Amino acid sequence: MGGKYHRSSHGGDACCCCNIFSCFLDCLCTCICQIICTILIIAAIVIFILWLIFRPKNIDFYATNASLTEFNLEGNTLHYNLDLNFTIRNPNERIGVQYDRIEAITFYQGQRFAAQQLAPFYQEQNSTDTVSAEFKGQNIITLGGDQLSNYNDEKGSGKFGIDVKLYLRIKLKFGLLESSTTVNPTIDCDIKIPLTTNGIARVKYEEQKCHYGWR
Ligand SMILES: *[C@@H]1O[C@H](CO)[C@@H](O)[C@H](O)[C@H]1NC(C)=O
Ligand SMILES: *[C@@H]1O[C@H](CO)[C@@H](O)[C@H](O)[C@H]1NC(C)=O
Ligand SMILES: *[C@@H]1O[C@H](CO)[C@@H](O)[C@H](O)[C@H]1NC(C)=O
Repeated sequence: MGGKYHRSSHGGDACCCCNIFSCFLDCLCTCICQIICTILIIAAIVIFILWLIFRPKNIDFYATNASLTEFNLEGNTLHYNLDLNFTIRNPNERIGVQYDRIEAITFYQGQRFAAQQLAPFYQEQNSTDTVSAEFKGQNIITLGGDQLSNYNDEKGSGKFGIDVKLYLRIKLKFGLLESSTTVNPTIDCDIKIPLTTNGIARVKYEEQKCHYGWR
């Protein structure tokens, strides 16, 4: 009894009566460890090779041109007429993009005022596409005192800061394979748009780059 206790305390082994069994367990553990390690290394090599082949790059979004012919607040009602063009650049040479859903939503000082669903399309590798959205109508927005004075300042400057978010659902096509997973990125275009009155805008619209954002 004492001998066994002595031995196990030195070996650091809690099980004092089944050394053959614990040796077998150790062996099994090592074996499973080796298999897992091998699988991880192979997976890492495969991912690295796929990365070398496809070299994924970010798809870039630009708010290329915009025309704002009406942006009038009467009480709580905003009357708007906004025409937007986006350029989408896919710089990947081996990845095509299927845009299954493109929802464009416009916000003014955090208040959502218009939304539109754009037509789905497929974007080839290494290509640039243009999509347009038109927003025309009226909606109720509630602006606080500070926001109201911002609106009046912007009206005076002839330029409104409008936030356009694109909610996307996309599928990637690697070579001949279409990935089975869809991704839902949000694109944030925080843009300044000059107001055009009687066909004349006091300032010229300048192309602005959009960035990846959060919902
Ligand atoms: C931008 O849109 C305005 C209004 O539609 C147009 O007059 C102007 O030529 C456009 N600019 C470019 C660079 O397409
Ligand atoms: C957006 O593009 C369409 C088609 O290319 C064009 O007819 C329209 O004038 C453009 N709008 C703006 C604001 O540039
Ligand atoms: C990608 O497109 C650009 C411009 O359209 C072209 O100059 C370039 O050669 C293309 N690259 C490949 C690898 O096809």
